[in-house]
Amino acid sequence: SKKLTISSIKKSKGNTPLVMITAYDALFSKLVSDSADMILVGDSLNMSFAGKSDTISATLEQMIYHTNAVCAGAPESFVICDMPFGTYVDAQSALLNSIQVFQQTQADCVKVEGGEDKAHIVKHLTDNGIAVCGHIGLLPQSVRSEGGYKVKGKTLEEKEQLLRDAKAIEEAGAFCMVIEGVKADVAKEVASSVSIPVIGIGAGVDVDGQVLVFSDMLGLFEEFTPKFVKKYMDGATLVRYAVGKYADEVSNREFPKEEHTY
Ligand code: KIV
Ligand code: NA
Repeated sequence: SKKLTISSIKKSKGNTPLVMITAYDALFSKLVSDSADMILVGDSLNMSFAGKSDTISATLEQMIYHTNAVCAGAPESFVICDMPFGTYVDAQSALLNSIQVFQQTQADCVKVEGGEDKAHIVKHLTDNGIAVCGHIGLLPQSVRSEGGYKVKGKTLEEKEQLLRDAKAIEEAGAFCMVIEGVKADVAKEVASSVSIPVIGIGAGVDVDGQVLVFSDMLGLFEEFTPKFVKKYMDGATLVRYAVGKYADEVSNREFPKEEHTY
């Protein structure tokens, strides 16, 4: 499929939902690139790839390393690089750090978590040639300050905040945004309140696209499974079975056979 552009992504609103999925390396970016419209190098890699308990300790260097790998495996794909915790605390540092991403990788845009309170930062980036995907609703980088992962949009106050967040991010120049962990009826209202695509994760079906973490949807990540994850493959079982079979065959000298031998 042809590589999407900022303008084709914006124009897609109201048509077929956008397909976004994460990848952290060239191997998987190549595999997902046939079907995905957009590949997200999410800081979720700090959990599933690096084995940490949250995304907080991901670094800019790590994100640049993984983004390079993803771009190498999927040169024809639209790639989003997550800005990690602490790299966009003000407009100036956000711009300098995003410039590092743009100069050192082929990422098409960056993603930053936050709504109304972060709009001035998004504006500074978009004013300076950095395309931005927003991220509103449940913000994993706020897990410690919030005391856990909490679904948003359960009260009228939260709903009105989400509507303001989406509007502010759109007005700041973002070309799309992720909405995470939000009651479906509220996410629907948020999506229809802005003219840029709103891509959901744990936000129901009435949004402009969906995103999943590849290691969740392939059943490879076993630590925990949020309600919003659908496992399209039982990856962990498949891997354990294959490696177990290899181990057995090595033990029994059944592998290698003649066809694997010089
Ligand atoms: O880091 C990530 O994978 C994300 C998605 C959950 C949207 O931000
Ligand atoms: Na993320």
